[in-house]
Amino acid sequence: MKIEWNARYETGIAEVDEDHRRLVDLINDLDAMLDGTGDLGRIGMIIDALVDYTDYHFSREERLMAGVGYAEAADHALTHTEFGHFLGELVGGCMVNPSREAAIRVNDYLREWLLDHILVEDMKFVPVVKAGS
Ligand SMILES: [Fe+2]
Ligand SMILES: [Fe+2]
Repeated sequence: MKIEWNARYETGIAEVDEDHRRLVDLINDLDAMLDGTGDLGRIGMIIDALVDYTDYHFSREERLMAGVGYAEAADHALTHTEFGHFLGELVGGCMVNPSREAAIRVNDYLREWLLDHILVEDMKFVPVVKAGS
């Protein structure tokens, strides 16, 4: 299922929105490939790109939160770390035993987690980052 970008996902912090849009684009690319005839090699490449970009985005967000002394920064970073571990396991399983079904599980998990995380957790630091920058 394709994610349609929606104004409610916007934080108004340019670098955060840019990253979130990039992640949504990658998830949609993966989704399109899973619907079509994308071979498992190319599907694996997009999953790799997603894992890398997720890491990059988390670090960027963590630096932003730390830079303004956001009180919940450590808790927020923990949700990133936990997600990263779970995603790593899911992707690891997908690499050991590549299948469209395993890739669909990665895609479904990423889509659900990311949108929920943006709307609930990321939105909480928005006023603090805006006030502090
Ligand atoms: Fe984020
Ligand atoms: Fe976050």
